Amino acid sequence: MSTLVVKYGGSVRDEGRYLEEDIAHFAGTGQRLVVVHGGGPEISRHLARLGLPAQFVAGQRVTDAETLDVVEMVLAGRVGKRIVRALQARGVRAVGISGEDAMLLRTVPFDTQESLGFVGQVERVDSRILEVLLAAGYLPVVAPLGVDANGQVRNINADVAAGAMSAALCADAFVLATDVVGVMESATSLHAVPELSVAQALDWIASGIISGGMVPKVMAAVAAVQQGARAAYIVDGRQAGILDAVMTHGRVGTRITGGEDRGGHDG
Ligand SMILES: Nc1ncnc2c1ncn2[C@@H]1O[C@H](COP(=O)(O)OP(=O)(O)OP(=O)(O)O)[C@@H](O)[C@H]1O
Ligand SMILES: [Mg+2]
Repeated sequence: MSTLVVKYGGSVRDEGRYLEEDIAHFAGTGQRLVVVHGGGPEISRHLARLGLPAQFVAGQRVTDAETLDVVEMVLAGRVGKRIVRALQARGVRAVGISGEDAMLLRTVPFDTQESLGFVGQVERVDSRILEVLLAAGYLPVVAPLGVDANGQVRNINADVAAGAMSAALCADAFVLATDVVGVMESATSLHAVPELSVAQALDWIASGIISGGMVPKVMAAVAAVQQGARAAYIVDGRQAGILDAVMTHGRVGTRITGGEDRGGHDG
């Protein structure tokens, strides 16, 4: 039985039908599945309605107190429950929780200056609630929020949250489903690089080839494979059969390889 952590990108938006079908298919075969979702575009839309700006630093949302309220409502309220309903409609026993529940995600401020406001990084994962739900045949759908030592809720980038859970569960695959075909070498590329080593990922971030929302994604994939997940894949969540491709041959999107540098990405 394999364990699969799927990060359902907020960027996939209304085009997630195939991904939901795929998740339902794998859950139906008895695999252990955990879904973690983002919600960037929907959060930004709600902020705009309230006249609040959306501001990002290296792909992470700057989260002041007002923004945090919106983040919490949109992620744990709307987006999470919408995914739960969509999966239930496909016969999956889905349960929506947030990283606050059962102390699943313990956080500390993202940086010491708290320049990103109420953004957290994951200090510790207590995966017991996931194990309980999985053992009982439920599929956890996790909103990327966490609590710190003072009981303060913090916004965690969903890629980062999913990566931490992938490592804690020693996932066979950590799949980051987003709105591009994978990591691309330039803005005009049509294809993803099939494989990215840790060294090359860091190099591409430093040189700006990897920017915006792809930065936390690649960093989360790197951390996950270095800390216990077997493999990480950045794939197009709008395409049919994407999880099947990952699990059967793995030649899809961009695969992030761990520790050892295989020198090149011509996999
Ligand atoms: N080298 C690159 N290759 C591919 N995409 C890149 C690259 N550099 C930056 N990006 C951007 O990263 C984006 C994906 O990250 P983004 O945070 O927007 O989506 P998401 O994580 O799926 O959604 P959410 O954050 O709501 O969960 C792409 O749409 C693309 O614009
Ligand atoms: Mg993102």
